[in-house]
Amino acid sequence: TWPTQQDLNDLQGDVILGLPKRTEDFIFFNIQDANAFKTDLKQLIPAITTTAQIKKLRDDISEHKRCGRPGLIKTVGINIAFSNLGLKKLGITDELDDPAFDAGQLASAQALGDQGFVDSSNKFDPNWLPEFKSETDGVVLIAGDSRTSVVEGAHKVENIFGASIRKVLVVKGQVRPGPEKGHEHFGFLDGISSPAIETLTKPLPGQIVVPPGVLICGTEGDVDSAGNAVTRPAWAKNGSFLVYRHFNQLVPEFNKFLEDNPLEFPNIPREQGSELLGARLFGRWKSGAPVYLTPTHDNPKLAADKQHNNDFDYSEDPLDQTRCPFAAHIRKANPRADLKDFGATALTQHMLVRQSIAFGAELAADEIESHTTRLDRGLAFVCYQSNLSNGFEFVQKSWVNATNFPPKTINGVAYNSGFDPIIGQNSGAPRQTDGMNPLNANAETTLPIDFIVSKGGQYYFTPSISALNTKFT
Ligand code: HEM
Repeated sequence: TWPTQQDLNDLQGDVILGLPKRTEDFIFFNIQDANAFKTDLKQLIPAITTTAQIKKLRDDISEHKRCGRPGLIKTVGINIAFSNLGLKKLGITDELDDPAFDAGQLASAQALGDQGFVDSSNKFDPNWLPEFKSETDGVVLIAGDSRTSVVEGAHKVENIFGASIRKVLVVKGQVRPGPEKGHEHFGFLDGISSPAIETLTKPLPGQIVVPPGVLICGTEGDVDSAGNAVTRPAWAKNGSFLVYRHFNQLVPEFNKFLEDNPLEFPNIPREQGSELLGARLFGRWKSGAPVYLTPTHDNPKLAADKQHNNDFDYSEDPLDQTRCPFAAHIRKANPRADLKDFGATALTQHMLVRQSIAFGAELAADEIESHTTRLDRGLAFVCYQSNLSNGFEFVQKSWVNATNFPPKTINGVAYNSGFDPIIGQNSGAPRQTDGMNPLNANAETTLPIDFIVSKGGQYYFTPSISALNTKFT
């Protein structure tokens, strides 16, 4: 059974358990000299944080908190991942059997619904940061309890690689301050729900249990989109595909949209009607409490209770949106029992582990006043899966962007729930979404703009420590 102790020492730490992160640097790099890089990588490998180390650290952190010790334990976690281009530069030509990885994220931009334009030669040019259009060979993730720790980690990495890499872009992730800790920039608590591998962590109530192979290559359940076993080189075992997506968030514009469109509900004042709309767009209140369990009022106590805050599956009233819209972000991205009649793996095969962090400044007074974004802020979105066509690519294209998903037949007619109002993409065109009004599920909501704008990213492979030792150096 996966994992053995050896597997825990082999799997990089961010993949399932996550590097502890108050702050995190993503160093996107190009390899300048393959031979020098390989030599330098040998020195980095002992500094890479493994899952076994994270497990131990988690125990230490719980102990630290249990004893009421002040402050945070000092942590610096380092992981590394490579794009297909990076593998080729290192002379690694084995087929990882993942076409989306081979082609790179840029090739998927149009199909993912990113904004951009088709040029005179009929080529799609997305509205991405130039660094992601020009391709990167790899990314080093450095996460820690403080800026000081991360700067220390970054110096170490830079000293090791010297001129063998060129930094293309550095993204500085930062957990938001004070009570906004763990909340993304629109103000909603993130990182609550993720799939569990039963043999690694005890599942919490409501957590979707998946075989390890859904998330980790070369382990039980690692299958392609048709459900067939994948042919990968042996060294791919204990690796995982990392999706990086750089999302800008238009926070003042989003807040203005909520302000202007409060939901009308008996005994709920206008301001709370705006809050209710926000909660129904996400499927959770800002506190993290799920609207399915607390449909009209926030419940911070429920939000903080891990035994209950994820314990629901939409199965009690599958054709009714009073408690949670079909199109709510969390329902589109994980429809739970909405797929129970579609086969045993219809849901589990598409699960992914998110390890994102916010980036950018808090709102400035002039942005609040003018309802206009001036400073870049958003989410450095990271997720892991064993197969991109089952994981991120599938969820973005076939669930959140698919207006007829989740599949519902109401009074004999297929129901169109519209786009995921948060991350559904329609190439920048206005999007419709249904079911936001609890008193009139058929009322359509038009989202005039994308409040989240993709600035690109890349698909990477996070190899195991043994693969780094045997194949990459
Ligand atoms: C859940 C925000 C992008 C997939 C959530 C939650 C928030 C959130 C606040 C609720 C917390 C939780 O259940 O853990 C955002 C923001 C995004 C973003 C602000 C972009 C800026 C994405 C993308 C995907 C995604 C691109 C995948 C294509 C999910 C999944 C869940 C989730 C799978 C858990 C749903 C569940 O299990 O109930 N997101 N998200 N998110 N998001 Fe996103």
